[in-house]
Amino acid sequence: MNTQIVSDIERLKKERNAVILAHNYTRGEVQDVADYTGDSLELARRATMVDADVIVFCGVYFMAETAAILNPDKTVLIPDPSAGCPMADMITGGQLRELKAKHPGAIAVCYVNSTAEVKAECDLCVTSGNADRVMATIPRDREILFVPDQHLGSHISGREGRSYVLWPGYCPTHARLTVKMLEDARAAHPGAPVMVHPECPKYVRDAADERLSTGGMCRFARESPARTILVGTEVGILHRLRKENPGKTFVPVSDTLVCPNMKKTTLENLREALLEMKTRVTVPEDVANRARRAIEAMLAIP
Ligand code: 13P
Ligand code: SF4
Repeated sequence: MNTQIVSDIERLKKERNAVILAHNYTRGEVQDVADYTGDSLELARRATMVDADVIVFCGVYFMAETAAILNPDKTVLIPDPSAGCPMADMITGGQLRELKAKHPGAIAVCYVNSTAEVKAECDLCVTSGNADRVMATIPRDREILFVPDQHLGSHISGREGRSYVLWPGYCPTHARLTVKMLEDARAAHPGAPVMVHPECPKYVRDAADERLSTGGMCRFARESPARTILVGTEVGILHRLRKENPGKTFVPVSDTLVCPNMKKTTLENLREALLEMKTRVTVPEDVANRARRAIEAMLAIP
């Protein structure tokens, strides 16, 4: 069954001159047909290098929107447009405008997990893979508004030793991880390092050994001498970790860490997206032009 769908996808990809980009949390079979699998930063960078006419984005809506903003002349498709990110929807453009009005002169920074409308209101965008480097470019006397993820915001502000005004957004999937889960996993695998995503709450981050973006986790897994690694993030990443490191063991800290939206892309709806050229992701030009400034300011920082 899958063999037929995979060969249909390969054929349609050529016919449409399309490229498939997939996030590290998508289903294993989707990652396997993608031309490129990566974290939010790697996918945003990759979206700027695409030669094809069509980008099929397997992930959540804000990621496809970012690809569309960076490629106004290409067709960007998302197989299931209902694949949203609840954290991205925790702040609206209007709410951010109100916050900015209360803090005149502050610099507004958004996590890439935000809507195009919110990015359009911001000076800079960050991902969990580059937040340290990007935030270090902001003069220390500037007040910083950080939206929407309070946890990534507190992680970076703690490392920088300055405080930000944090919007109280959070990722419902990473919020499920508890210190007890980490302790139980450590007890079952003594000596194995624990890596968690910076979207986890501070008490969980503090109980871990490494706090990394999903791309950072893939690098750590490759370079660490540890034979067993405990993984505290969305379970979709285990497919890639195991595929790239066949001699090592990866254990989820909790198998309840499933982002339902990341699972909405299937081989079936990916084939349908290519067949019917749907669903096209578009961003109104004025919003896209303003949002692009914040994203490009981020991408310009090496
Ligand atoms: P990264 O892949 O950039 O680490 O982001 C994780 C995430 O939650 C994406 O929605
Ligand atoms: Fe959003 Fe969390 Fe899902 Fe990432 S894992 S898409 S932050 S809900």
